[in-house]
Amino acid sequence: MSTDAYARIARYYDRLLEPMNAPLRAAGLKMYPPTPAMTVLDVGCGTGAHLEAYVDAGAAGTGIDASPAMLGQARARLGDRAELIHGDATDMPFDDGSFDLIFTSLFLHELEPEIRDSVLGEIVRVVHADGRILVIDYRSGSLRLKGKVWRTVATVAERIAGADHYRNWRTFLRSGGVEAMLPSGAAITKSRIVAGGNLVISLIEKTDT
Ligand SMILES: C[S@@+](CC[C@H](N)C(=O)[O-])C[C@H]1O[C@@H](n2cnc3c(N)ncnc32)[C@H](O)[C@@H]1O
Repeated sequence: MSTDAYARIARYYDRLLEPMNAPLRAAGLKMYPPTPAMTVLDVGCGTGAHLEAYVDAGAAGTGIDASPAMLGQARARLGDRAELIHGDATDMPFDDGSFDLIFTSLFLHELEPEIRDSVLGEIVRVVHADGRILVIDYRSGSLRLKGKVWRTVATVAERIAGADHYRNWRTFLRSGGVEAMLPSGAAITKSRIVAGGNLVISLIEKTDT
């Protein structure tokens, strides 16, 4: 894996972004609530904020992330209450069908377009045949006033994150977001537009099991 793009920002990430992100996490939890026996994988888990809510509800939590700095924050938050793995989502160290729920939040949009298909393929591979995938990410489409403010803040944040990051985000939006890039064998069964039209929470199931 290359240099850690989050090395400098990781310790401030939650303080800066959690006020905007917490309502998204609450909406995601509502769409697919945790249950005690559930096995959950957070791909691109970052500081572990979303994973913590599932672990607190008794789920067995695993997070994988490419950034040692972000994982450091997740470890400080979760300790040994979750398994936290430094790894690349294009090649995950899990058996087929290992998890009841896989979620990714604000992750897919930052991937290089060339690796998105393999990441999505990996996610579909490691979710259980009857499991679910919950994705929270950007969408293209019209914005309400709140959404326009959100998009302005997001544009600044994505620009600050660097030229590659900004380009990947723009490409993600232009190519139609999650809906447009689902692999065969997976379908969106429920969705909810949030953040004034900026983001969509998508619940995805395997179709050819
Ligand atoms: C914008 S942050 C979102 C973090 C978290 N999901 C959240 O909602 O706050 C994106 C995360 O994806 C991770 N990431 C980016 N590319 C990755 C890859 N190929 N494999 C694993 N993690 C990756 C980054 O290190 C970062 O922690």
